[in-house]
Amino acid sequence: EGPAPVGEGQDWSAWPLYDSSELGLRNYWYPVGWADRFGSKPQAIRLLGEDLALVREGEEIYALHDRCPHRGVPLSLGRREFPDTVSCAYHGWTFDLQSGELRAALTDGPESPICGKLKVRTYPVEQRLGLVWIYVGDGPVPPVERDIPDELLDNDFVMGGRSDVREGNWRFAAENGFDEGHAKYLHNTALWRLFKVMPAWNKTRIQQVGTWLVRVQDEVHWEGNYPGLGVWTNKRWWKRMPLPDRPGRGKKINPVIDSLEIPGFVSIRLPGLLRVAYPKFIHYEWYVPVDEDHVRYVQMMVRFERGLPATAFKAGYLGAIRWLFHGQFTKQDAWMVDVTDAPPERLYRPDSSITTWRRHLEKSKPTPQTRPLRKKAER
Ligand code: FES
Repeated sequence: EGPAPVGEGQDWSAWPLYDSSELGLRNYWYPVGWADRFGSKPQAIRLLGEDLALVREGEEIYALHDRCPHRGVPLSLGRREFPDTVSCAYHGWTFDLQSGELRAALTDGPESPICGKLKVRTYPVEQRLGLVWIYVGDGPVPPVERDIPDELLDNDFVMGGRSDVREGNWRFAAENGFDEGHAKYLHNTALWRLFKVMPAWNKTRIQQVGTWLVRVQDEVHWEGNYPGLGVWTNKRWWKRMPLPDRPGRGKKINPVIDSLEIPGFVSIRLPGLLRVAYPKFIHYEWYVPVDEDHVRYVQMMVRFERGLPATAFKAGYLGAIRWLFHGQFTKQDAWMVDVTDAPPERLYRPDSSITTWRRHLEKSKPTPQTRPLRKKAER
């Protein structure tokens, strides 16, 4: 008799709240794309399973539930007839961008009695870091700054970024980002690894620092001798081996990054933001739930510099990093997120990163998004 097949007979979950969060977590601000990509023409996006129409009016961007209460046509198909409003493409019901109130029903004349009697839901919107942020939640709206790392608000920086919608659930994307083992193996074939070597295996502990969970590497091994099999190594011929128990140990560290005193290379926090701290720059990635099967993957590489070093970084980003790291490297992640099929699952020692993250979510007691009633008109 050998070990039992994985998943047979198990009908309980150690992470019930996590399991019910497939559409994401309410009461957070989420980045949904670069602000300069949104114009006065309404644009449809999906966030936590809710359909939104985003419309720019001057400097402001507004978000409305993307459904006309009349006959359910998407407002993202609408037209801009008057300032600060959007008109539904079907019969011209015209909604205030800020309040969502019905200001006019164009095909029922200026005295239409239905005006002022209903509205569509609107969402709080902010613009920070060049991104549009939308709050999905209930009750008092917290400042958007709560959901943005302090170092990005308090310091000057230059950055390069990408935002795209990928296949897979946001939880698989977050787990993949914080997953200890995948960085050592999956990304072995990434061109980015020519410049940034990784150990073969670590002994890792997860430490909570403020709102972050940090992967702290207590032991770093560049190779292992596997009984009966032989040696497997992540060493490279040029033997450039920074010791990643603290970002950039042994190298000159950017003062802002140094001041953060992050005890490990990779950190994660709710509602799904990963931070990878290198000596000279930090990579951030947000896993923004689109729906059960799609995640918006917003990645940003930040260097806390001004002047010439900032210009040099921008050139380096556009010339290489964008393609190597934000391209081929993270496409390997996207590939795995797409094909992961768990549970059932049988976890191993490095997965303490994943289980700690799940436990952290359970303990934090966030509010899972429930399936939106897409067919209900609002009154
Ligand atoms: Fe929108 Fe008729 S469906 S105005």
